[in-house]
Amino acid sequence: MAENVSNSEQNETNTKRPQFGSRILSSGDNVFQHNAWDNVIWDEEQQNLAQQKVNENSTIILSEEKIEEYECKADKYWDKFYGIHENKFFKDRHWLFTEFPELAVVIINQNIKQPLRSMTESTNENVQETHIKILDLPSNNGNKILEIGCGVGNTVFPILLYNTDPNLFVYCCDFSTKAIDILKQNPSYDISRCEAFVLDVTQNDWETPFEPESLDIIVLVFVLSAIHPEKIKHVIRQIYKYLKFGGLVLFRDYGRYDLAQLRFKKGSCLAKNFYVRGDGTRVYFFTQEEVRTLFTSCGFTEKQNLVDRRLQINRGKQLKMYRVWIQGKYRK
Ligand SMILES: C[S@@+](CC[C@H](N)C(=O)[O-])C[C@H]1O[C@@H](n2cnc3c(N)ncnc32)[C@H](O)[C@@H]1O
Repeated sequence: MAENVSNSEQNETNTKRPQFGSRILSSGDNVFQHNAWDNVIWDEEQQNLAQQKVNENSTIILSEEKIEEYECKADKYWDKFYGIHENKFFKDRHWLFTEFPELAVVIINQNIKQPLRSMTESTNENVQETHIKILDLPSNNGNKILEIGCGVGNTVFPILLYNTDPNLFVYCCDFSTKAIDILKQNPSYDISRCEAFVLDVTQNDWETPFEPESLDIIVLVFVLSAIHPEKIKHVIRQIYKYLKFGGLVLFRDYGRYDLAQLRFKKGSCLAKNFYVRGDGTRVYFFTQEEVRTLFTSCGFTEKQNLVDRRLQINRGKQLKMYRVWIQGKYRK
């Protein structure tokens, strides 16, 4: 189960879980029996070992010039990344609608909307109630969604596919022109329901095809981690500006001590918990508390703040991989 969750989120956990899955490892289990275990509890020893690894790989031996270059040319490194991988690197995510049912509204008649996930769970009598409780968004129909750091559309296209709201409009942006080009070439890119554009969200002023206070949902999936930690707060302030009152941020990203952080070698660290990969792209590893402070200090109310700890198993190689992700929902 999630740790350090707020009271409001704990309530949500009790009523709407299990979302992160429910295969729980207990002492008698053979760990190599399944491909993954959910909500894995870390003991103090594992926590200390992880901290030790981070201490070891956090010695900064890169020059100021090199660190500056990774910042100034960040978009170029991502262009290069998408030039190599095109649309084959990030997979469409299966967890998207279980974790964020707000993204997949299904219109079942003119007046009633409900998220995709509850279609199978609800009886006809409780449909309307379920929809109002879960959705809780400023617009009754015609939601406007923005995804920031959309890459080649692995989140946007599933939303367009599963969300049947005829008035839905999805905006998506990325600072990689290459990613936006690839996304626009996708046969599912439908300009009557979607608009992709290039934007570096760390810029002071955003040039956008929508007005301030006009968006219902802003999606941040593994994007804030790619931004220099000193610039993240500015991005969140801008997000606040463009959301409607009552609008929602849906956030999921890397958590502190995720396998990806522990794997970095000395010489990759740019700032505390912020690293550069071999291809020049960068990644930050968040704690729940940091995410909470970032959003609440910009005026948001916390609806959810979870840590998702999963143990992935490579049964062939008998490898154990401890993954850590942070997930949050914040309301303006
Ligand atoms: C780890 S990828 C995730 C892509 C996508 N959200 C997904 O999950 O498939 C991070 C994305 O954020 C984009 N990005 C990084 N910094 C950005 C910035 N300052 N402004 C806009 N996009 C940015 C990158 O180009 C990249 O597409």
